[in-house]
Order: sequence, then C-alpha cells, then structure tokens
Amino acid sequence: MSILVTGGAGFIGSHTVVELVNAGHEVVVVDNLVNASEKSLERVEQIVGKKITFYKVDIQDREALNEVFEKEKIDSCIHFAGLKAVGESVVKPLEYYTNNISGTLVLLDVMRKHNVKNIVFSSSATVYGNPAFIPITEECPKGQCTNPYGWTKSMLEQILSDVWFADKEWNVILLRYFNPIGAHESGLIGENPNGIPNNLMPYITQVAVGKLKQLSVFGDDYDTPDGTGVRDYIHVVDLAVGHVRAMEKMKENPGLKIYNLGTGKGSSVLDIVKNFEAATGVKIPYVIKERRAGDIATCYADASLAEKELHWKAERDLKKMCEDSWRFQKNNPNGY
Ligand code: NAD
Ligand code: UD1
Repeated sequence: MSILVTGGAGFIGSHTVVELVNAGHEVVVVDNLVNASEKSLERVEQIVGKKITFYKVDIQDREALNEVFEKEKIDSCIHFAGLKAVGESVVKPLEYYTNNISGTLVLLDVMRKHNVKNIVFSSSATVYGNPAFIPITEECPKGQCTNPYGWTKSMLEQILSDVWFADKEWNVILLRYFNPIGAHESGLIGENPNGIPNNLMPYITQVAVGKLKQLSVFGDDYDTPDGTGVRDYIHVVDLAVGHVRAMEKMKENPGLKIYNLGTGKGSSVLDIVKNFEAATGVKIPYVIKERRAGDIATCYADASLAEKELHWKAERDLKKMCEDSWRFQKNNPNGY
C-alpha cells in the first residue's frame, strides 16, 4: 500500500515509518517539523537503507497538502500530526484546537477530494478520562478529559466517526495508545522532547544522563500497590507494528473500528524507576512530591480486541523498553 504518514518525523511516526517500510509499504511523510527534526528521517533512512519521500508541509495548508496528493499515489493515511503537550494545551487552548482539529478537517477534506478514504488516527487512553473500569476495554465509556489536548482527541474521534457514518466508503481505525516509551534498538531514533520533559520516561533518561538532578514522583498516596500512579507502558516499536497491522486490516474494508494499543500490564512510577535501574545500572535519585493536577491513579488496557482482530500483541517487556530508551538518550544526550 502507499501510505501518507502525517507527523511522520515525530516520535511514534518515525518508528512507524521504519516498520511500514520494513513490511514493504510505500511511504510519503508530511510534517511541518513544529516538534520534530528532519534528522529523524535521515536516521530512518539509515535504518531502512532507503530514501523516504518527505514534504515539509503543515496539514492546515490546504493547497500544499493538495499538491502532495496530486504528486503522490496515496491510498491510505496514518494521521499522527498534532500538538501533544498536555500542560501547554491548558495555556494555549486555541492553538491546540486549531492545529489539531482544523488540521484534521483540512486533511479529511483533501483526502475526500482525492477519493482516499482510509485513515488510521492516533488517539489516546486519555479519552477514557478517569476510567469507569480497569482493565479498560474499548467498551469502557469515554470520560471527561482534564485538558484541551485530551479533548482534541475525544472530539476528533467523534468527527472521524461522523465522517464514516455519513459515507460508508470510509474506513476509520481509531487507535487508543496507552503510554509509549522505548526507542528503536539501533539507538538512532527515539523520543526527543523540547525543554524539560513532562512525561515520565524522558524525564528519567535525562536524570540518568545528568541533565536533570532528580525525578519528582507525583504522589505516593494513590490507591495503588505502592501508592504511585500506575500506567500501561508500551514499547514504541510494538505500537509502530500495531499501525502496520491496522493497515493490513484496511484491506478488509473494516468500516469504523476502535482498538486499545497497550500491553495489558500496569506498572507504577516506582516500578519504572526500579526496572530502569536494573536494566541500565544507573541510579535514579527521586523525591516524592504532591500529586500532579489532572492525573489519575490507574490506567491500563485490556488489549485483547487488537489481538483478536489485528493479530497484534505487544511483545517487548519493561526491561527492553528501559534499555532502548536509555540507549537513545545516551547516544543522543542533546537530542537530534
Ligand atoms: P510528536 O510531537 O513527536 O509527533 C507529532 C508530529 O506532528 C511532530 O513531528 C510535529 O512536528 C507534527 N505536527 C504537529 N502539527 C502539525 C501540523 N499542523 N502539520 C504537520 N505536522 C504537524 O508526538 P508523538 O508522541 O509521536 O505523537 C504522535 C501522535 O500520537 C500525536 O497525535 C499524539 O497526540 C498521539 N499520542 C501520543 C502519545 C504519547 O504518549 N506520545 C499518546 C497518545 C497519543
Ligand atoms: C500523559 C497525558 C496523556 C498523554 C500522555 C502522553 C495527562 C493527564 N495525561 O499521560 O494525555 O497522552 O501523557 O503524552 O497529562 N510522573 C512522575 N514524575 C514525572 C512525570 C510523570 O511521577 O516527572 C508520573 C505521573 O504522575 C504518572 C506517570 O508518571 O503517574 C506517567 O506520567 P506521564 O508519562 O506524564 O503520562 P500520563 O500522565 O499517563
């Protein structure tokens, strides 16, 4: 298949491009590089030994996007492009709603114009809010998001569902990611956050490499086995492979589908610290701090639907996630 990957220079996008090319697909990447570097794609080329077709285009730019569709033969799209910093979205809601929602509306309209009606969308477990039950199946009702970023995911799921409802020629696969960490095992591509990381694993690796002094653990009084927050961490390469399987599913004209992509296992903040120390031999000093606003106690997936229908299962364990995150950080202490 010939696949347009929006946001393909980013963390999850770059890993997905590797797996798509390895699976024999043609790939065209569109990214405005607002949160990525072209270097990530050069590294992808190094890994796969092939040139990657890339357009530096903002998906809100209808004309530029249209040109890409005119030049390239595209039959499906994997849509990663979006702003994703939770805290920033609270301060800049208009920028987040505009970029993520208007950007997607333009993309969908241009796709429709070119009769490209297959889309895989990057959603998030954040749409479950404080989940009604654990482990979370796709039947779990959507909840209240605690920030504009989360709402863009929830609203875009609705928009994409409505597009499918109105025209059943569309195939829409909503993938709800749990917590992606890790990196390609080559150590060439990985997560490259701007400024001080908000997420746990990049914070830990920056402590390990000596850029940050210590980890703050946000709360140890949750109703969890050790009192710290529990999440479903998934290796980014497993997540990337999930997208390859979703592309294969497209061939069945599945209509509208929703899948959780997680491991089904919950790990606490302290589990991650311990696993990281054991996998890398590097000590992570930490202090317990107040809970972070908007955080929930526990979130992990029941990912059996993806196993049944996509023939996909996360295979890489926490040790591998920690080793690979660390290798990328160590080899790239200042990012790309
Ligand atoms: P990322 O920031 O590394 O990748 C997003 C990419 O989109 C970046 O390369 C950025 O430059 C690009 N982009 C943003 N706005 C654009 C626009 N208007 N036009 C063109 N390109 C644009 O983030 P990521 O972690 O790789 O996430 C990929 C997708 O998965 C995002 O939609 C994100 O919200 C979603 N997601 C991520 C996580 C996570 O924990 N990383 C969890 C759930 C969902
Ligand atoms: C967050 C977002 C989610 C987004 C995801 C990936 C919220 C409420 N959710 O998920 O929408 O999809 O990031 O971008 O913001 N922790 C610490 N110290 C730190 C950092 C994190 O103790 O310095 C803890 C958190 O309290 C949490 C766990 O580590 O218990 C994971 O945090 P994080 O990596 O930020 O992911 P989420 O909060 O699950």
